[in-house]
Amino acid sequence: MMLYLFLFFVGLLFVYIKFQYFTLRGPIPGLSPHFFFGNLIQTGLLSGRRVSSEVYILLNGQFGDIYQYWLGFIHFVVVHNIDDVQYILSHRNIYDQGQIFLEKFSILVPNSIICNIGAKFKRHGAFAMPLFRRSKIISNINIVIDGTDKLLDRWRARPTGQVHTDVVEQCQNLLLEIFGLIAFDYDLETLDGNDSGNKNELTKALRDIMSIFRMIIYAPNIVSTVYLKLSPKYRRASATVERYLHRMVEQELAETPDSRLQRKKTSLIASLVSSLQADEPAEARKKEAEKKGLSRKELFDEMLMFLIAGYETTSTALAWCIYQLSKNPRVQQKLKTELMQDASSQSLTVDRVDSFIYLDCFINEVLRYSPTIDGTSRSVVVDDYLPKSGTRLYKGDQVLIPTSALSRDTRFWKIDAEQFYPERFLNEDKNHHPCALLPFGGGHRQCLGQDLARFELKVILARMLQQVTFVDGGSEVNAGGFSQTLTIIPKHVGVTVEFH
Ligand code: HEM
Repeated sequence: MMLYLFLFFVGLLFVYIKFQYFTLRGPIPGLSPHFFFGNLIQTGLLSGRRVSSEVYILLNGQFGDIYQYWLGFIHFVVVHNIDDVQYILSHRNIYDQGQIFLEKFSILVPNSIICNIGAKFKRHGAFAMPLFRRSKIISNINIVIDGTDKLLDRWRARPTGQVHTDVVEQCQNLLLEIFGLIAFDYDLETLDGNDSGNKNELTKALRDIMSIFRMIIYAPNIVSTVYLKLSPKYRRASATVERYLHRMVEQELAETPDSRLQRKKTSLIASLVSSLQADEPAEARKKEAEKKGLSRKELFDEMLMFLIAGYETTSTALAWCIYQLSKNPRVQQKLKTELMQDASSQSLTVDRVDSFIYLDCFINEVLRYSPTIDGTSRSVVVDDYLPKSGTRLYKGDQVLIPTSALSRDTRFWKIDAEQFYPERFLNEDKNHHPCALLPFGGGHRQCLGQDLARFELKVILARMLQQVTFVDGGSEVNAGGFSQTLTIIPKHVGVTVEFH
């Protein structure tokens, strides 16, 4: 009898969960979701057969511009209608930070900007946002050049003709080295020592955290939290990263207050450490709107979030740039010609870098054609209608903007969107719809580091192309493809690096 009762209640629970969470809602079309997995199995995301940017294009073809989509437990309304996308991003009072950011990043870094809204978001943003404006960043040009030179020296020391299959790892090392110095005044030494991308302990630890993060993103939070607590790989990686974060804070605390005061308008670590609360328990008792400064826990969460956001995205974009250079010798040659113009010397100044217009077009085209991030998300704060499609949305709904699909959507580009063609940004597609290309998202929660990312990419590529040519290492090793962590990474990059 007890067994029947038990089975009855389990059955009831199953039916409740299925109807509450895993059933198509209302008139919006979509793939009927599986219990627990949502659309993960049907779309090939779980098996790795497809990455999310491919899935959005597929579902757009099947269901049109608005459809429902389950990323595991999380239910989204995906919006491809470009005018509705613009509406969402420009109405911050109706569409705030997506729940996926708030919930999923909270597992790793609950007190960081990315997973907070309202007064806490403003309090944290005040210590970081002003530092990432272009005017503050350009003074770091020599850090970017020196880091790039270090990587070039490593490559120079390799046997001529060797096919480099570790481009992604080397780009990660480079961006960590640069970001460590720019944001934390700290040499992470990711390009020192043995020339093996896989052996740097910090790069490896961060890569482990990212791959675990990708896995847990689909699961309910409780499962993810327990998994992280039990996973020895995560605990090891997290301990390594924490060790680095503590060293950085100790180094900053050893500076004089005068030095910190001078640097806090340009250095993230100086700004964060200056903001440390003198009396944490007293601040903790205040209402959020009255709180000042950051607690130690908040400081460490911000540092980890910035470390991840600061290197992973930009290094992925750089790896895609190198891949596209090797596949498009005409474009590479044209970039080199631009770099040689008015070049009385090899030196790169901010003014010279600014003058490389075709390089800007190339970077835009890589971000368009090989998007680093698949999309972004917003939470509906009050019931609303999307004006163009007339879609009814309700408070609490999650909207997903598939930026990677919009940038490849032939409707929004005059020159074939399937063609890799940087010149489009000089001519026919110069005045594209603002939402057709959103590599850094948009609106009030757009990427905080976009000026830095663009500047780093431009200086690194200019420096590299002054000295080397990237050559396709052959269709087997340089096969492209995608693998997904937080970003969409090129799966197979294999290039030779020819020095001039
Ligand atoms: C090519 C490089 C990069 C790409 C493609 C990229 C892309 C993005 C995207 C798509 C978002 C979500 C925006 C939205 O929802 O509208 C975002 C947010 C963010 N990014 Fe980046 N990013 C890059 C580099 C960086 C760098 C270098 C930093 C570090 C300074 C950074 C820090 C952040 C932060 C803090 C947020 C959260 C902002 C918020 O929640 O308000 N990103 N990024």
